[in-house]
Amino acid sequence: MDEADVEGDLVNVLFTEKQIHDKLAELAAVIESDYDGRDVLIVGILRGAVMVMADLARSFHRHVEMDWMAISSYGSGTKSSGVVRILKDLDTDITGRHVLIVDEIIDTGLTLSWLTSNLASRNPASVEICTLLRKPEALQMPVEVRYVGWDIPNEFVVGYGLDYKERYRNLRDIGTLAPHVYS
Ligand code: PRP
Repeated sequence: MDEADVEGDLVNVLFTEKQIHDKLAELAAVIESDYDGRDVLIVGILRGAVMVMADLARSFHRHVEMDWMAISSYGSGTKSSGVVRILKDLDTDITGRHVLIVDEIIDTGLTLSWLTSNLASRNPASVEICTLLRKPEALQMPVEVRYVGWDIPNEFVVGYGLDYKERYRNLRDIGTLAPHVYS
């Protein structure tokens, strides 16, 4: 879907498909150089990270292995509970591996803070995080993020994997959702 397909639902387009692809190519180049000579396993966090994983992985000029995790954030409660449950674990044994977690957004930081410790306890060689977006004002838990696309204001954003009630994930761009849609 394009912006025209959701006309009136967005306050503005924050990042176009082209800007996102350029940013991911930039990040891929840095990651490639940082991991020179080392195998890397990129781990996408379902479901939102599907688009980022697909485009980031294809921006590399080298082999990368891909695996996936699905996590339920905070049960049915609010984001502040910090309760995280693994719905789908890695298929890969990460002992001694260089792991790069890939997500589309860090909001409160609760998910990735928990996930980083969980993966770190499995004796990998390293665990780092790459996120396309981060909301510094929303952060409740410190998370060390090695690769960030953009820091954004604390607004409701959708598109490129980001949903509101499972909609807008397939929007090509990332935009700010108009309050009339969710209020
Ligand atoms: C999003 C995103 C992160 C998490 C970040 O996933 O993919 O995993 O929220 O939020 P936090 O920093 O506040 O923990 P979400 O729970 O919306 O699931 P989804 O990927 O299936 O949309």
